[in-house]
Amino acid sequence: MDTTASESVETPPLLKALSGQSNNPPPIWLMRQAGRYLPEYRELRASAGSFLDLCYNPELAARVTLQPIERFGFDAAILFSDILVVPDALGQDVKFVENEGPVLDPITDREGIAKLGRDNFMTHLEPVLETVRQVRSSLDSSVALIGFCGAPWTVATYMVGGRGSPDQAAARSFAYRDRDGFAVLMDLLVEVSVDYLCAQIDAGAQVVQLFDSWAGNLPEDEFAKWSAEPARKIVEGVRRRAPGIPIIGFPRAAGTLYRSFVDQTGVDGVSCDTSLPLAYIRDDLQPHATVQGNLDPLLLVSGGEALDRRVDEILDVLSGGPFIFNLGHGIVPQTPPEHVAQLMKRIRQ
Ligand code: CP3
Repeated sequence: MDTTASESVETPPLLKALSGQSNNPPPIWLMRQAGRYLPEYRELRASAGSFLDLCYNPELAARVTLQPIERFGFDAAILFSDILVVPDALGQDVKFVENEGPVLDPITDREGIAKLGRDNFMTHLEPVLETVRQVRSSLDSSVALIGFCGAPWTVATYMVGGRGSPDQAAARSFAYRDRDGFAVLMDLLVEVSVDYLCAQIDAGAQVVQLFDSWAGNLPEDEFAKWSAEPARKIVEGVRRRAPGIPIIGFPRAAGTLYRSFVDQTGVDGVSCDTSLPLAYIRDDLQPHATVQGNLDPLLLVSGGEALDRRVDEILDVLSGGPFIFNLGHGIVPQTPPEHVAQLMKRIRQ
């Protein structure tokens, strides 16, 4: 084997892309690639108890993480867990209610924040770290392992609202009503997120992604303060302790504020949602960070020629620079797995 070949075996394509290289074909993974659209997930999930039980069961969570890699051959595995294990580990009551989603005991004031505790935080998350170790030891060296956490703003919207909402009104109102009080919660989330991401890296994660799924409802000053600034602090904290580990940010639905997010945080990669125009991604983001995205998850449900056509468009516009193929948001449960196979074939052909 010549050195170029052995190098390409050792450096996963995802890490090459995040170091600024263009690749043809680009590396691909999909947000929520493990989950309910896969029959093998539904089967294992049925035997695991609650969703959180599955998240804290290293053997089963590792198997779920590997399922989409075995079936489709993605370039990266993402740890199977959830962003809401963080409030759970801080002592807030978190449940996942079937057909309803997450339900938390809402935090509405400073007294509620003061009741959160960090003492058991890392002990509580130890099973998740064990999942990372087990996944890394079973993965081929060409497949990168991605760790993650929710960005403070998105995690806070659930902690304050107690559940998902279309407008995150509860958290936005808390932040307007009592700025300093809300900042206490955000600072706590920044600190524990750095600890948690660094622990995932120690356990074997080679990339980390910060999910700010609800960044899009913040006006520009609020966005800078509650999305970009906490992300910047997390990037700084992780880089100090784990230099060289690439960080991907996902300020979903932030529109033209995407560029300020990239500039303010210094992320290595930026995950682009479905609504961002390809020309904007290429001209305004790609010169400053590796871009990831942004196929509409619903095209993966409908499949057919429309899927192939859009995949080709995305490749045409973004493959000339550092790029990771992904969706603009997570796979939805009604996605036929055959359409994911069709997508893989189209990318790799
Ligand atoms: O991407 C992956 O494959 C890794 C696993 C992962 C999950 N959640 C598994 C999951 C990741 C990275 C997440 C992140 C997450 N969780 C986010 C940010 C990304 C996004 O989608 O916007 C958010 C906002 C959450 C919170 C959350 N978890 C909600 C709102 C729900 C309910 C909605 C739903 O799809 O059921 C979850 C549950 C959840 N997280 C499931 C999975 C596979 C489904 C639970 C089940 O199997 O019953």
